[in-house]
Amino acid sequence: MSKHILLTGGTGLIGRKLTDLLISKGYQVNHLSRKQGTNPEVSTFLWDVNKGQIDERCIDGVDTIVHLAGANVADGRWTDKRKKEIIESRTKSIGLIYKLLKAKPQHTVKSVISASAVGYYGDRGDNLLTETSAPGTDFLANVCLQWEHAVDAGSSLGLRLAKLRTGVVLDAKGGALAAIAKPVKFGLGSPLGTGKQWVSWIHEDDVTEMYLYAIENERITGDYNMVAPNPVTNRQLTKAVAKELHRPLWLPRVPGFALELALGEMASMVLSSQKASAQKIEDTGFKFKYPTLTWALKEIYR
Ligand SMILES: NC(=O)c1ccc[n+]([C@@H]2O[C@H](COP(=O)([O-])OP(=O)(O)OC[C@H]3O[C@@H](n4cnc5c(N)ncnc54)[C@H](OP(=O)(O)O)[C@@H]3O)[C@@H](O)[C@H]2O)c1
Repeated sequence: MSKHILLTGGTGLIGRKLTDLLISKGYQVNHLSRKQGTNPEVSTFLWDVNKGQIDERCIDGVDTIVHLAGANVADGRWTDKRKKEIIESRTKSIGLIYKLLKAKPQHTVKSVISASAVGYYGDRGDNLLTETSAPGTDFLANVCLQWEHAVDAGSSLGLRLAKLRTGVVLDAKGGALAAIAKPVKFGLGSPLGTGKQWVSWIHEDDVTEMYLYAIENERITGDYNMVAPNPVTNRQLTKAVAKELHRPLWLPRVPGFALELALGEMASMVLSSQKASAQKIEDTGFKFKYPTLTWALKEIYR
C-alpha cells in the first residue's frame, strides 16, 4: 500500500479532521474539491460534478478513495432543486470518479470507502437496526439508497468497497451538537417531538479512527453502521448536553407538529428514530474511544 489517499469532501467537518489524522500517520493526501485549497500539506484537484469535469491527475499514485462529498442536508429547505443537489452531489460525483478510473485502466486505486448515513433506515422506533435491516422510505433513506447504489457500481471495477452508515457526529465546532447546544447555552433547550426518538451518535474522533481503520483493513467491505455502541433518546441527549454545560432544562418539549410547520419535511432529521447497532464493526476488532455519551461530551466540553 502506497499510503496515498484521495478525499472528496475533504474540506468538510469530517474531511478536515480525517485529513489531519492521515497526514499525522504519514499518508499523502489529495482533495477533490470545487475550490482551490488552503492547506499547504494537501494537493487539491478541482472538479465540477454538474459539468462532468474532473482533474484527471487526482488519482495518480492513489490507492484508496474516501468519498465524503455531498451537499449538506441541513443547509436550506428541501425544495425539489435542493433534493436533486443532495442526491446528485453524492451519486454523480462517485460516478464521475468511476468514469475516470475506467478511462485510466493503469490506475492504482484498490479501495473506495464511502460515507453513508443511518438515515438509510428511516424512522424505526425502538427497533435495533443492524446492517441487514431493511431501508426506510423517506427522503433521507432514499438519498442513502441511491448513494450506496452509486458506490456499489465500483464492484464491476474490481474495487474493495466499504460504506459507513454514519450517525449524528458529535463535534463541538459544528454539525448537530452545536445546533443542540446553542439554545441550551441560553437556557432555552428542550427535547424535540416526543423526545423518545433514538439518536445514534458518534464522537468525531471515533469517526476519523473508523475511516482510518477501514482504509487500513482490507477485510472491511460492505456496509457498517458508524455509531457508538450506546445510542440515546433525544431527551437523554438534550439532558446530557445541558448537564455538561451546567444549564437548566425547564422548557416543555417542542411538539413535533410545530417542528414540521417550521421545517417542513426536514423535521424528519430530528424527529425520526434510529437505534443503530455497532456490533458488526466491533466484531471486527474496532475499539471505540468514546463508547458512552458521558465520556464523549466530557471530552468535547472539557
Ligand atoms: N456530520 C454528520 O453528522 C454526518 C452524519 C451522517 C452522514 N454524514 C455524511 O458524511 C459526509 C461528510 O460529512 P461532513 O459533516 O463532513 O459534511 P460537510 O461538512 O457538509 O462537508 C461536505 C463536503 O462536500 C462537498 N460538497 C458540498 N456540496 C457539494 C456539491 N454540491 N457538490 C460536490 N461537493 C459538494 C464540500 O467540499 P468542497 O467545498 O471542497 O467541494 C464539503 O466540504 C457527508 O456526505 C455527510 O452526508 C455526516
